[in-house]
Amino acid sequence: MTIPPSVPSTLFSELKTKIEEKRARVAIIGLGYVGLPLALLYAEQKFPVTGFDIDQHKVSTLQTGGSYIFRIPPPEIQSARAHGFSATTDYSQLEEMDAITICVPTPLNEYHDPDLSYITNTARAIAPHLRAGHLVILESTTYPGTTEEVLLPILEKENKRMLTASRGGSADQQQFYVAFSPEREDPGNQTVARRDIPKVVGGLDAKASDLAAALYGSIFHRVVRVSSPAAAEMTKLLENIYRCVNIALVNELKLLSLRMGIDIWEVIAAAATKPFGFQPFYPGPGLGGHCIPVDPFYLSWKAREWDFRTRFIELAGEINTRMPYHVLEFVAKALNQQKKALNGAKVLVLGVAYKKDIDDLRESPSLTIIELLQKEGARVSYNDPYFPTVGKGRKYDL
Ligand SMILES: NC(=O)c1ccc[n+]([C@@H]2O[C@H](COP(=O)([O-])OP(=O)(O)OC[C@H]3O[C@@H](n4cnc5c(N)ncnc54)[C@H](O)[C@@H]3O)[C@@H](O)[C@H]2O)c1
Repeated sequence: MTIPPSVPSTLFSELKTKIEEKRARVAIIGLGYVGLPLALLYAEQKFPVTGFDIDQHKVSTLQTGGSYIFRIPPPEIQSARAHGFSATTDYSQLEEMDAITICVPTPLNEYHDPDLSYITNTARAIAPHLRAGHLVILESTTYPGTTEEVLLPILEKENKRMLTASRGGSADQQQFYVAFSPEREDPGNQTVARRDIPKVVGGLDAKASDLAAALYGSIFHRVVRVSSPAAAEMTKLLENIYRCVNIALVNELKLLSLRMGIDIWEVIAAAATKPFGFQPFYPGPGLGGHCIPVDPFYLSWKAREWDFRTRFIELAGEINTRMPYHVLEFVAKALNQQKKALNGAKVLVLGVAYKKDIDDLRESPSLTIIELLQKEGARVSYNDPYFPTVGKGRKYDL
């Protein structure tokens, strides 16, 4: 009788197999603009997926087959639920999960410094339920070092089972796996299917990278591995800083072109015919959204620790922040040409979302412009099919 060779059953190979067979139970923490679509991608591929959020309203909406994101219609949620998707506020369910992905907000605080409280709160909520073999992936945009310097220490110190993260040593039954993988969601973009956007992954060690790459490889067509979580964190910031700086460049050139009587849009269209070395960016009334106005300052903040000033980021921030004030000046000038004052003028603002075709108001320059116009005594109305009303926000009460 031949004896079959014994295959060492490690936590790593067990999880890898579960992922390959789409049996791995996936947890998504934070069911917002990033987390909810990600959960739906896993559900589409028939992974058992559970969404976690502290917002009871969101959880109840999803549990009854509804949606709170305009571009995700309720039938998509219902179809995901039919494939086993559920949502909960109960973190103890994490014990039954195999892979945990964190998609919580990373805003700036009132001093314009990174506010990592959502990440640290989430890490503290996960830690008591962490078990050996868990794969924990951070997706929230943040500065290089967050995964290793902020997330990991909380998970290691506050778990109840004395677990440590796998760091490339020999296999251990007391380990969990950690990786960072940035989100590249582009809300409103209908031209690129989500699974066609390559997914960058950086694990704490090769095993964590393998597992994270296998997991994302099941829902994305291409996974790009980098050498560390910090390299993956920096990749996302490079992408967003690239946009922020180039938008600032065209914003500045637009102001110069106005003075010189040149149409910047004509110039950009002509330059964009160059088949290499030029990518068009367009001027606007200011930056909006949760990413471009926020993320670059995560890096500026971290750079100070290294006694380094990120001058491009600061200059771009300065130019982009001034754009709503330029809009105000131009409105005043246009009225002046009609012998009218801003004070008492009726002004209609078309669009309050931060860009076209989306239901997201975060950091929208329209809100700043409305506030500036109101301060000058203008009577402002707005039109936006996505926002029949604009409620009180963190910064605005219009
Ligand atoms: N929106 C985008 O287009 C986009 C694109 C790329 C990257 N990102 C990044 O992704 C991250 C998430 O962004 P978003 O736009 O999805 O934010 P969001 O505000 O839409 O969603 C975050 C969700 O996390 C929940 N949450 C907060 N704390 C929690 C906790 N402790 N436990 C469980 N849930 C919690 C909130 O209730 C909310 O539902 C951010 O770091 C952002 O920079 C966003």
